[in-house]
Amino acid sequence: MVDYILRRNRRDRLEKDERSRLLERVARHAAEAEAQEKAVRAALRGEAAPQQADLWSKLRDIPVNESLMDENLIITATRHDPAHATFDVLRTRLVQTLSDKGWRRVGITSPTRDCGKTFVSVNLAIALSRYENCRTVLMDMDMRNPSVAGVLGLNDVGSMGAFLRGDRRIEDTFCRFAENKLKIGRQLALGLNDKIEPYAAELLQKPETTARIKEVEEKLDANIVLYDLPPALAQDDVIAFSRMYDGVFIVAGGGTTTAHEVREVMRRLGDDVPLLGVILNRAEGQMTEEYGY
Ligand SMILES: Nc1ncnc2c1ncn2[C@@H]1O[C@H](COP(=O)(O)OP(=O)(O)OP(=O)(O)O)[C@@H](O)[C@H]1O
Ligand SMILES: [Mg+2]
Repeated sequence: MVDYILRRNRRDRLEKDERSRLLERVARHAAEAEAQEKAVRAALRGEAAPQQADLWSKLRDIPVNESLMDENLIITATRHDPAHATFDVLRTRLVQTLSDKGWRRVGITSPTRDCGKTFVSVNLAIALSRYENCRTVLMDMDMRNPSVAGVLGLNDVGSMGAFLRGDRRIEDTFCRFAENKLKIGRQLALGLNDKIEPYAAELLQKPETTARIKEVEEKLDANIVLYDLPPALAQDDVIAFSRMYDGVFIVAGGGTTTAHEVREVMRRLGDDVPLLGVILNRAEGQMTEEYGY
């Protein structure tokens, strides 16, 4: 199991010493990731599948608003904040692990609310979009509290529940960033949601839901599918949906999540769901990397 640290305080700027400590830390990880990056690029090279280009070209374009991205902490978009480099490291290691294991579906959860699942999901998805030959899909599966559309500044994006029940088509449900000067890749499809589903666990357990999600993977020919999930200790949704992902990240809120809570999530998920890593987000002061088994 790998631990990732993501440190960022909710301030406009990092202090000078914080910035250099962060950069030092990232540089250490980056050196290691650089070697993996080469292998990943080689693995992805030549894999683009033009036969799926049709459906991708039908996905709705959404605008890229630079200042809103910064405001909503989508730090891998403008890359102004040095912490964005942590996501490059995370991305590289993830692709390496997935390609080694032959996996593609990744759940992102946390023990409780507000630990930064959506922050990690969106930033990781954008970091992945910069791999030209990697088709990434991000689905907002936090059905009781959908928030990916909100951080992108989008309203009226439609209902993921309706899509899962078979009432909406892929091309009406998924969108992608319009051409943009930030070079956010066009091979990232976003499945957004603006409708709360009170019976989320039941919906996520239905065979129709499994079939719809498989259809997305196949028709969009996805290399990686990220699911922004609900908190695992709050309801059954994450367990109900666990057969749909090959591995899971647990986002731990720095200063809030306890090691016991992380272990409890792992216990509930059981041995069948491999843990891809624990991401310690928003760490303050001395950081611990000792979460784990
Ligand atoms: N590293 C960070 N630094 C500063 N603020 C952060 C960081 N990560 C997340 N936040 C902020 O904390 C709040 C919660 O983050 P986010 O919505 O990503 O959490 P979540 O786990 O998805 O929450 P929920 O359980 O409600 O879905 C947001 O306002 C977000 O902007
Ligand atoms: Mg969220």
